[in-house]
Amino acid sequence: MNRLDWTSARASRSLHGDFAVPGDKSVSHRAVMLASLAEGASRIRGFLEGGDTHATARIFAQMGVRIETPAPHERIVRGVGLHGLRAPAGVLDCGNSGTAMRLLSGLLAGQAFDSILAGDASLSKRPMRRVTEPLARMGAAVATAEGGTPPLGIRGGQALRGIDYASPVASAQVKSALLLAGLYANGETAVSEPRPTRDYTERMLSAFGWPVESAPGRAALTGGHTLRARDVEVPADFSSAAFFIVAATLVPGSELVLRAVGLNPRRTGLLHVLRAMGADIAEENRREAGGEPIVDLVVRHASLCGIDVPIEHVADMIDEFPILFVAAACAEGVTTIRGAAELRVKESDRIAVMAAGLRALGVRIEETPDGAAIEGGPLLGGSVDSQGDHRCAMAFAVAGAVAAGAVTIRDCANVATSFPDFAHLARAAGLKVSAAD
Ligand code: S3P
Repeated sequence: MNRLDWTSARASRSLHGDFAVPGDKSVSHRAVMLASLAEGASRIRGFLEGGDTHATARIFAQMGVRIETPAPHERIVRGVGLHGLRAPAGVLDCGNSGTAMRLLSGLLAGQAFDSILAGDASLSKRPMRRVTEPLARMGAAVATAEGGTPPLGIRGGQALRGIDYASPVASAQVKSALLLAGLYANGETAVSEPRPTRDYTERMLSAFGWPVESAPGRAALTGGHTLRARDVEVPADFSSAAFFIVAATLVPGSELVLRAVGLNPRRTGLLHVLRAMGADIAEENRREAGGEPIVDLVVRHASLCGIDVPIEHVADMIDEFPILFVAAACAEGVTTIRGAAELRVKESDRIAVMAAGLRALGVRIEETPDGAAIEGGPLLGGSVDSQGDHRCAMAFAVAGAVAAGAVTIRDCANVATSFPDFAHLARAAGLKVSAAD
């Protein structure tokens, strides 16, 4: 595997810039999936050029969908209709992407052909029974490896029936897998969740013409309709913007403008939490793109105070905890996080990876099974390991911008899964991030 280590050093100056981060990963995956199953051609603008979304596009190409790239960040998908996918010749490789694997497990359970979904070393450790068990109740035949992990072997040709499923875990991937299987099921498929999660699948299915009942915490649809092609405009990814929001907050004298950031309310828990800690983040030019609220964010340096992160925000910022750990380490006082056990089964065990890394930089952290207590204080230079987790790597790079000495970050190659341009944009804004010798 490619290894890439970075060195990030204290910024010599404040951060400045006016730019857009790349397109939303969740929306890009779903746009390729639904456009592939639609009747007609759809154009996707703002598509994320990242390892994860490339994996999804490659998988649909392997199943006979023609996907053209007229320009970077743009795709034309020639949909084959709900029943038009072809049996793939080989294994379908999801790479590092849990979203690709879990959503595809539902979608492929409804096909006439067999398929196998596999992933990289990190994805191969992640729990899949959360999707395979409810899918089995729908009549699907999806096998996991021992321990409930990938690869997934999916037997086609099963008659699926709708179920009303109360998911024990707040997961948009679980909800979406069942809704995508529900497209092929007899009767109604309904999913309720312990806390509302991102609703892109529901919104996009409706936009492609499929009737969906959707309310926070519950979604339902019936099989037997048609998806009609349409153009999709992908907003800038809030999760990618989050690294710059925190960097500009922490580095004195900074002011950054981040354009056209998607502000789906199920994604923006970090904004509430940072503002409660004292951050200065203004929203300008609120408008809509592809049915999603988008704004330009203006972020200025501010001093932060530690808080108890309200549990009701946890699901709405599930991907932002690595960078929140860094913000908390630089805040005055203690920040406590609870109710976030899901962090232990992301691309890495994010509680353990962030705690070990920040400890190596002199931060006092107490880990708990579902969170941490982080005591703010000065960050020292040192060496940390992102363990191949893209978001931990970028969070540590931001830590380097405020540490007293250089921070060397090991295993950063997977940043390309969600944000290949990160180091380039970070340098343009004034962060010193470079490949380590
Ligand atoms: C995603 C859902 C979340 C999130 C992931 C993307 C999605 O995962 O962490 O990065 O696109 O549906 P869970 O459903 O496991 O919470």
